[in-house]
Amino acid sequence: MTFRNLETADLAGKRVLVRVDFNVPMDGGKITDDTRLRSALPTLHYLSTQGAKIVLLAHFDRPKGQRVPSMSLRPVVEPLSALLEQPVTFADDCVGPQAAKVVDGLENGGVALLENVRFHPGEEANDPAFAAQLAALGDLYVDDAFSAAHRAHASTEGVARLLPAYPGLAMQRELDALDAALGKPQKPVLGIVGGAKVSSKLDLLNNLVTKLDRLAIGGGMANTFLHAQGHDIGGSLCEKDLADTACEIMAKAKASGCELLLPVDVVVAKTVAPGVDADTRDLSQVQPDDLILDAGPKTVARLLAAMDASKTLIWNGPLGVFEVPPFDEATVAAAKHAASLAKSGKLIAVAGGGDTVSALNHAGVAADFTFVSTAGGAFLEWMEGKTLPGVAALET
Ligand code: 3PG
Repeated sequence: MTFRNLETADLAGKRVLVRVDFNVPMDGGKITDDTRLRSALPTLHYLSTQGAKIVLLAHFDRPKGQRVPSMSLRPVVEPLSALLEQPVTFADDCVGPQAAKVVDGLENGGVALLENVRFHPGEEANDPAFAAQLAALGDLYVDDAFSAAHRAHASTEGVARLLPAYPGLAMQRELDALDAALGKPQKPVLGIVGGAKVSSKLDLLNNLVTKLDRLAIGGGMANTFLHAQGHDIGGSLCEKDLADTACEIMAKAKASGCELLLPVDVVVAKTVAPGVDADTRDLSQVQPDDLILDAGPKTVARLLAAMDASKTLIWNGPLGVFEVPPFDEATVAAAKHAASLAKSGKLIAVAGGGDTVSALNHAGVAADFTFVSTAGGAFLEWMEGKTLPGVAALET
């Protein structure tokens, strides 16, 4: 894929529509995590210093085409303005006369935020007339919202087809990192896929076994594979109806030359609660009332050795119930090892997905990874090998 380079664009005095992802966690009108605002700053600073008139398009939550006051983007104005260290004007609508007035009032380098694009049904319907109304507010379009790029909506896809379209700096960084992990990676490539359910990651597993040299499966979903192999998993979380599917994935991995790393030992308890008594068991020793809640030390040692033998790591999903110590041990040990290899330049380590970012933060090592994507659905769809409409629309 080839994209225009924002740094070669003539931006002075131009109205630049910038699609950002300000779908931030909010509690009582206050932002509780401003990571997504911060990730837009490099692009916004760049555009501002180039003298562009910056018009921000964003969605918040899922108002389904209605004006829902609690889903207004207005609470973003103040924190954004503080981070940017410049005023941000707000328009109560993202199209029509109110939006046009705010955009017309922008000085070179100025920033305006338009109200939630999802207040209009045309946004999610990717209605060409609505996309044209958005496009009328800009001379250029910049998409810096990788995490919304799996949506073929008017502000992520439609408008990109109507104006000269550029990836923003955060989007470009994300695309480069993802390409380094799965597009043209340095081999051998190791994947780690964890999380509760196989059913939510079927497409992902099916794609990865054809691309990777090794794939470690952890978390609750590993139980479904162990059950399919005939192991007794006691009372653990398991999708027994997906046993055949798990066998198909194992067969596909074998045919593709991808070595699957399933747990060889496990950490169990009778209930999931912080600090409960936990035992380590080989697979043959799991009791009927055991709950498998984490990977065991032999499994972790094998995973760390696989990291040592790899050049690239791509990771989505925790290895155990990391939110409830002591069932965070495998995830923390794996995260620390990957981070130290990445820090010393021995491993390209890319991770993504909401719970993965929380797990790496819990381990205190997110900053040492080569790249951590905060995108949820978009990161998964990209790992599934799907074309993201918001990225495809930026291609030249
Ligand atoms: C996200 O928060 O993952 C993105 O902003 C997409 O939001 P959506 O799932 O409501 O489309």
